[in-house]
Amino acid sequence: MSKQKVLLLGATGETGTSILNSLLTLNKFEITALVRPSSAEKPDVQALTEKGVKILIADISGPAEELINALTGIDVVISAIGGMAQMAQMGLVEAAKKAGVKRFVPCDFASVCPVGVMMLRDEKEEIHTQIKKLGLGYTFIDVGYWYQLSFPPLPSGRTSYAMFPGMQVPLHGDGEAKNILIDIRDIGHFVARIIDDERTLNKYVYGWGDILTENQIYDMMEEVSGEKLERVYVPDEEVVAQEKQLLQAFENDKTNVRLRIGVMSTQYAISKYVRRDNTPENAKSLGYLDARELYPDLKPKSFKEFVGDLVDGKVQRPYAKGMSM
Ligand SMILES: NC(=O)c1ccc[n+]([C@@H]2O[C@H](COP(=O)([O-])OP(=O)(O)OC[C@H]3O[C@@H](n4cnc5c(N)ncnc54)[C@H](OP(=O)(O)O)[C@@H]3O)[C@@H](O)[C@H]2O)c1
Repeated sequence: MSKQKVLLLGATGETGTSILNSLLTLNKFEITALVRPSSAEKPDVQALTEKGVKILIADISGPAEELINALTGIDVVISAIGGMAQMAQMGLVEAAKKAGVKRFVPCDFASVCPVGVMMLRDEKEEIHTQIKKLGLGYTFIDVGYWYQLSFPPLPSGRTSYAMFPGMQVPLHGDGEAKNILIDIRDIGHFVARIIDDERTLNKYVYGWGDILTENQIYDMMEEVSGEKLERVYVPDEEVVAQEKQLLQAFENDKTNVRLRIGVMSTQYAISKYVRRDNTPENAKSLGYLDARELYPDLKPKSFKEFVGDLVDGKVQRPYAKGMSM
C-alpha cells in the first residue's frame, strides 16, 4: 500500500515538532513540511531536511493557484500554525478543497471548550465553519492543556529551567476543577493514529494524558520532589474581573499582542477553572470521541511521570526559541 501523503504546517513549532516526530517514527507517511518564505533559511528548517522531510516553501496567504498546485496529490493536511496566526489558515482550507485533499486537521490542539467562551476557540470555530461549508473532510483534534504549562515552580528553583518566562501557576477557586491535560510530546502519538483511522473522519477527537485538579497537581509536585509548596488560591471573581478589564483594553487596541495574549490566557483560566469546561464529561456532551478509547494500546505519559522528568532535568522549556507570530 502506498504511504499517505501528509502536508504539515508548523513543523518547527511546539505542537508541530511533536506531530512530526511521531509521523517520522511510524514510517507510514510521506511527509512534506510547508514553510513560509521568510523562514526558509532558518536552521530549524534545514534540520527538517536532514530528517528526510520534504520542504515546500509557500505563502499560505499568497495566490490561490500556487497553493492549489502545491497541495495537489496531498491526502492529509495538518496545521499546527500557532494561536496568533490561525486565521491565516483560511486560504489553505480553500486550496485544500480545490486540490482534492481528503482530510484537513486544522490548528485546534487546545482544551475542550464550547463556542462563545474564548476568543482563541471562537477563531478556531471560524475555520471549522469554513471547512464544513466547503465540504472538506476533517478531523478536529483537541488535547487539553499542556503539562509543560501546568506545573508550579519548586521553591528550590530545580524546575525553573523548564518554565515558560513569566508563567504563574496559582490555584483557582477551591483548586478542585479537574482538567484534561497532556504532555506536548504525546500530542503527535495521538495525531499519527487519528489521521490513519477512517473512524475519525469528520469527527471531533480528544487525546489526553491525565485528568487532574490543581490540588492534585500541587500534591504530586510535592510528593515527587519532596519539597513543600505555598498554595495561593485566586478567587473566581478576580479572574472574571481581570478578563473584563483586559477585554476593554483590547477592544481599544486590537493589534496589541501583549493584550491579546493576556485575554487569551485569562479566558483559558475562566474556561478551565471557573466554568470547568475542559473535562471528559463535557467533551462527550460536545460530541468528541475519546482517543484513549479508540487506541487503548497508546500509553501517554502521566503527569506524575512528567514531574519525574521535570525534576531530572529532562523537560524542554516551551517556546525556548521564542514565540512564532
Ligand atoms: N493545549 C495547550 O495547552 C496549548 C498551548 C499552546 C498552544 N496551543 C495550541 O497549539 C496550536 C499550535 O501552537 P504552538 O504554540 O504549538 O505553535 P508554535 O510553537 O507557535 O509554532 C507555530 C508554527 O507555525 C509556523 N507558522 C506561523 N505562522 C506561519 C505562517 N503564516 N505560515 C507558515 N507557517 C507559520 C511557525 O513557523 P515559523 O514562525 O518558523 O515560520 C511554527 O512552525 C495552536 O492551535 C494553539 O492554540 C495549545
